[in-house]
Amino acid sequence: MGNLTVKQIHKSFGGQPVLENISFTAREGEFVSILGPSGSGKSTLFKVIGGLLAPDRGSVYLDGENITGKRGYISYTPSPRRSCPGVPFWTMCSSDRKYRGR
Ligand SMILES: Nc1ncnc2c1ncn2[C@@H]1O[C@H](COP(=O)(O)OP(=O)(O)OP(=O)(O)O)[C@@H](O)[C@H]1O
Ligand SMILES: [Mg+2]
Repeated sequence: MGNLTVKQIHKSFGGQPVLENISFTAREGEFVSILGPSGSGKSTLFKVIGGLLAPDRGSVYLDGENITGKRGYISYTPSPRRSCPGVPFWTMCSSDRKYRGR
């Protein structure tokens, strides 16, 4: 896994800010939940962390390595709804080096 640091992320769509100055660190072994109402930017944040979307500003680090905009380091997948009925959530995982980029 590793330590994930999100630093001062900003992202707008069509001039509309969705993520404004988002920063946090999730250390290896921690269980972190990101909560918010529909449309608050959770998926946008996950896409930025996974390198699927470039932030307007800010950086993403994995174990100190700048992985902003890079794919293959952190993946996310929707969890089966039956595991938590009525509550959609996402599971993120940092892939082991041997699986990166596959
Ligand atoms: N590619 C895009 N182009 C334009 N606007 C977008 C794009 N992706 C997301 N948005 C907008 O950004 C805002 C945040 O969307 P996002 O999907 O990140 O929210 P969410 O918190 O994941 O919502 P939900 O809980 O419904 O999954 C919404 O207003 C959405 O319409
Ligand atoms: Mg979403």
